[in-house]
Amino acid sequence: MRHPDTIPEAIPPATAAPEKVDTSRRSLLRGIGLASVGAAALAAGCSKGEAIAAPAPAPAIPAVDKSVAIMGANESPFGPSPKAIEAMIAKASLTARYADDEGEELKKQIAAIEGVDPQQIFLANGSTPILAAFGEIIAAKGKGQLVTSIATYEGVPRSVLEYGAELITAPLTADFGIDLDAMAARITKKTTATYVCNPNNPTGNMVDPVKLRAFAIEASKTAPCFIDEAYLHLCDDYDANVMTSLLRDGHNVVICRTFSKIYGMAGQRLGYGIAKPELARQMGMATRMGGVNHLGIVAAMASLADKDFVPAMQPKFKAGRERLYNVAKGLGRKIASNPQASFVFFEVGMPNKDFADKMMAEGVRVVGRAWPEYDNWTRICVGEDWEMDRCEAALKKVLAV
Ligand SMILES: Cc1ncc(COP(=O)(O)O)c(C=O)c1O
Repeated sequence: MRHPDTIPEAIPPATAAPEKVDTSRRSLLRGIGLASVGAAALAAGCSKGEAIAAPAPAPAIPAVDKSVAIMGANESPFGPSPKAIEAMIAKASLTARYADDEGEELKKQIAAIEGVDPQQIFLANGSTPILAAFGEIIAAKGKGQLVTSIATYEGVPRSVLEYGAELITAPLTADFGIDLDAMAARITKKTTATYVCNPNNPTGNMVDPVKLRAFAIEASKTAPCFIDEAYLHLCDDYDANVMTSLLRDGHNVVICRTFSKIYGMAGQRLGYGIAKPELARQMGMATRMGGVNHLGIVAAMASLADKDFVPAMQPKFKAGRERLYNVAKGLGRKIASNPQASFVFFEVGMPNKDFADKMMAEGVRVVGRAWPEYDNWTRICVGEDWEMDRCEAALKKVLAV
C-alpha cells in the first residue's frame, strides 16, 4: 500500500534522485575503518572534476561501552553488513522522501530470492509489527483462537490476547522442543491460526522439517499457519529447514523474517512477511499501510546483495552458542538441547529475576523476565568476545555449587 501522496502520476519516483557514489573510495573507507575517516576527507581526496555525492561527514562509530555486557535481547553483537552501513550513509539524504518505490524494489529483490511473487511480500519496521498485525487479524474481533506452544516467542500470543481472542498452548516435548503433535491435537473448529517459531525463542532448538511441513500443510487447510523464521539463517542447515516452498505450493502459511538478527539491524528496523497474495494485502493494511523507514529498506537491499555476509556471520554465531552451551553444561545445568539460534536456554536454579540481578552485579545483562513454566531458567545470547569472557566468568561465580 503506497502513501497517497506518492502515486507515480503525482510525484516522480524517489529513485529518480541523482546519486553517484565512488564505490572504490567507499570500499577503501570501509577497509580502513569508517570511524576514522569522514566524507569530507573522502571528498578532499577526489581528483578534480570527479563526481561524488559526498554525504555529510560520516559519524564516528561510538567507542564500545564496556560497562555492561549486553546478552539479553538476541541482537547481533557483530553489527550490520559494511555494505549496509555504506548504503545508509550514501543515501541518508533520501530520507526526505517516502520510500514506496524503494519498498517495491526490495519486495522484488526478496521475491526473487524466495521464489515467490512480489505481491506475496509485505514489509514492516521490524517483524514485531507483523506479529502484532497477524494477532489482530486472527483474533477475529475477539472470536478467534491461536494454537501455539508454551515457552515460545510472545509477539503473536500477546497480540491475540490483547484483541480479546483465545490462546491455546501445547506443552514442550521432553527435550524442550515444540511439540507439533500436541499442537495438532489442540486445533479445533474455533482455531483461526497456528504459530510456530523455528528456531524457537527462547529454547533455541528446531522442529524436524519433515514434521513441520506436514503439520503446516494440515493445519493450514482450515486456518493460516504462521512460521516465524527470525533466526533461521543462524541454524546449521538453512536449506533443509526453510519453509518458503509451502507458499510456492499454494498453502495458507505466513513466513516471517527480520533483519534484526543475523543482519544486525535491530535498531534500524526492517522485517518482512510472505503470504498468499490476499493475506499479504491484508497484512499490509494491518501493518498500517506499510509505512516503512527509508534507511531500513536501503540497508536491507544492500544486506541481501552482500552475498558474503550471512556465510561470514553463521560460524560466529555457531561458535558463540556452542561456547555458551559448554559453559552451562560444565556447570551441570539442564539445557535445551541443540541450540540453533543466537542463544542458549538453561536452568539456573533460582528465580529468573534473582539470577539477572546477580549477573548484572557482575556487569552482564541477561533477560530479566520469566517464562511462566520456566521461572528458574534463563536465555543468554551470543556476545562479542569480551562479553563472552565476562559472561563465562560471571556464570561460574553466580552458579558455583
Ligand atoms: C522469534 C522472534 N520473532 C520476532 C522478533 C521481533 O524482532 P524484530 O521486531 O526486531 O524484527 C523477535 C525478537 O527478538 C524474535 O525473537
